[in-house]
Parts: sequence; structure tokens; C-alpha cells
Amino acid sequence: MAACGNKSEPAKPMAETPRLTLAPFGQTADGTGIDLITLRNQRGIEIRLMTYGGIILSIKTPDRTGVSDDITLGYDTAAAYFKNSTYFGVLVGRYANRIAKAKFTLDGKTYTLPANNGVNSLHGGTIGWDQKVWKADTFQNAGGVGVALTLTSPDGDQGYPGEVKAKVTYTLTDDSRFVVDYDATSSAPTVINMTQHTYFNLTGMKAPDALGHELMIAADHYTPVDDTLIPTGQLAPVKGTPFDFTVPTAIGARIGEPNEQLTRGKGYDHNWVLRRPAEGLALAAVVREPFTGRTMEITTTEPGIQFYSGNFLDGTLTGKGGKVYAQRTGFCLETQHFPDSPNQPKFPSTVLRPGSRYTSQTVFKFGTDKK
Ligand code: GLA
Repeated sequence: MAACGNKSEPAKPMAETPRLTLAPFGQTADGTGIDLITLRNQRGIEIRLMTYGGIILSIKTPDRTGVSDDITLGYDTAAAYFKNSTYFGVLVGRYANRIAKAKFTLDGKTYTLPANNGVNSLHGGTIGWDQKVWKADTFQNAGGVGVALTLTSPDGDQGYPGEVKAKVTYTLTDDSRFVVDYDATSSAPTVINMTQHTYFNLTGMKAPDALGHELMIAADHYTPVDDTLIPTGQLAPVKGTPFDFTVPTAIGARIGEPNEQLTRGKGYDHNWVLRRPAEGLALAAVVREPFTGRTMEITTTEPGIQFYSGNFLDGTLTGKGGKVYAQRTGFCLETQHFPDSPNQPKFPSTVLRPGSRYTSQTVFKFGTDKK
């Protein structure tokens, strides 16, 4: 901001804040440079992300009165993310969520993955795509500003077959949509399930937890889990359970109720089966934060969404601006195919074969409830 101390000086026109910038943001332990990309729109939204892990570092949006705050959890520096066991902000690949017993069979061949979550494999293994430096190509066009991130994952990466060429495009539009497009091809039959793992707190961290956020999930069923958080295979009705978010309900309203599924997840950590009335983008979830009036609407081409209520945050992590992240300070809404699909023949398939293309789109629309 220009200071205007000397009143006799003629006012200079303020330089317009650039819509898109790219700047160095440190390096990995092996010396690979990391870039920071900033996207801005006309309505005061600013999204910062980095090429390491495709990580969303911050999303600033105005509240009902126009005050802007960062509505995501994370860290201040790139290096702080190198041991990101909570997956703050990351792009998850090759396979979001859990694969049972870290194994799956495809075309008669069994593949073994790293067991990095008890006996299961979580979020692509020990060194998933969230720990890779992606190549960035920024763009600015009539649709908005953005960046295409690309990565080649070698055959056998974390035990998965096929060389995969992945591309994720982040676009911020002037009507305040943050569009995430996923695209991948493979040289051999494999499984793919990508997602975005940003933790949100729409108060801008002004409330000690996110339990007051009202959430609607457009789903009549969810996939209950065993005690290692692997789906049992059943599609259970949400009706009459704490999993019914068909009507907007505070995240915290029923989280403490005695319920075996809530006990297993230590809160909500489940996949909802989206209604998906039509092909293409369909409504998945709507969040409203009553004090600031901030809203977020999620639409997706995916069949499911993992609602994770930040149960494993336990006050041991200190994040941006020295904030301590206590349990349920933030939540994730991860659009996805269902967990463990490679081992669950009745779930929508996550198999990608050479010659076909994996595509997926999720849109986060930010707003306020201002009348
Ligand atoms: C996912 C999982 C959770 C947890 C977080 C990261 O959302 O479903 O159980 O592992 O990632 O902490």
C-alpha cells in the first residue's frame, strides 16, 4: 500500500495488483527449486500455491463485511511441508484414501504398496505425489488465471504399475470459482484416484474449531468402514444417523453421539456416495460459516466425497502465523472415487488403461451469505 504522508505530493495512480505471479519459494533437500504461484481475481480472492506437492498454501476470501482472511490451514514455509503427515493442502495421487492391506490385484497380477497407515496404504504411499515437485505452466485467459501442473510418475512408483503422466490445472475465475481439473494417462493398466486435500476453516482461524460450520452433503448414502477405516462394501443410508447432512447441519451437532462409525473415525472420516442426478458436474457439498457468512459450494464429476473433520489434529502442530492446530480446527472435503475401490468390485472402477484418459473436475465456489 502506498503511504500518503506528504499531502502536497500529487497522488500517483496505484499500480494494479498483478492477477498472476510466480516466484521462487525455496528448494527441496536435493536442491530442486520450488515456485510459489499467486492467483487473484476481481472480487478480492487470492490463492497461493506451490509446485511442491501442488500444495494450496492459502486461500483469502472476503467475509460478509468485506474483510479478507485466509480460510485454510498450513504452514508459512515450503520446508515446513516436507514432513506433512496431515497432508495440508496437497494434491493426492496416485490413489487418494486407503487401499486395504496395501495390496490390490489387477488383470490377475497382485501389486504391493507401502503400508503407511497401519496395514493399509494411504494417499499414494510413503512418497506420494504430494511430495513431488510439479512442473508449472501459468496462464491467463478470458476464463481466469491459473497454472497447469504436470508430473511423470515412473512405472512401479510406490508399487503402482504403469508410467503415468498426470496434469492438474488450477484455475481461479472472476466469478470466484476455483476449478481443479485432473487428467492422467498410463503406459500400462493401473488405478488412479486423485483429490485435493485442503483443510478449511471459513472463520479465517478466528474460531478455535470448525464445529460451528454448517454443512450440507448431497448424499443419501455413505460407505461405513471397519476399524482400519476401510469400507465394508456396504452403501448405508444416512437417514436417521449422524451422517445425514442432506439438510445443512453444524459439523459439531452430532459428532459426539454414541455411534460405532463415529468411534471408528474418531469423528467424521468417511466417504459419502453423492446423489449425482446427471452426468458432468453435480453438487457435492455446501458449507456456510454463520459468524463470517463465508460460504463454499463444491461441485464435482466424482462419485464420492470424503468428509474428514480434522480428528487427527491434536495440538502438536503449529501452523501459519504461530497458530496451534487443535483437534477439528479444520476439515477436508475430498472429492474422489470410493476408498479401496481396487479391492471392491461393486464400487465404481478406478482402473485406467493405456489409450484411455482419466479426467475429473471439482469446483470450489467461494461466496458469502450476504443478502
Ligand atoms: C485423510 C484420511 C484421514 C487422515 C487424513 C490425513 O483425509 O481419510 O484419515 O489420514 O487424510 O491426516
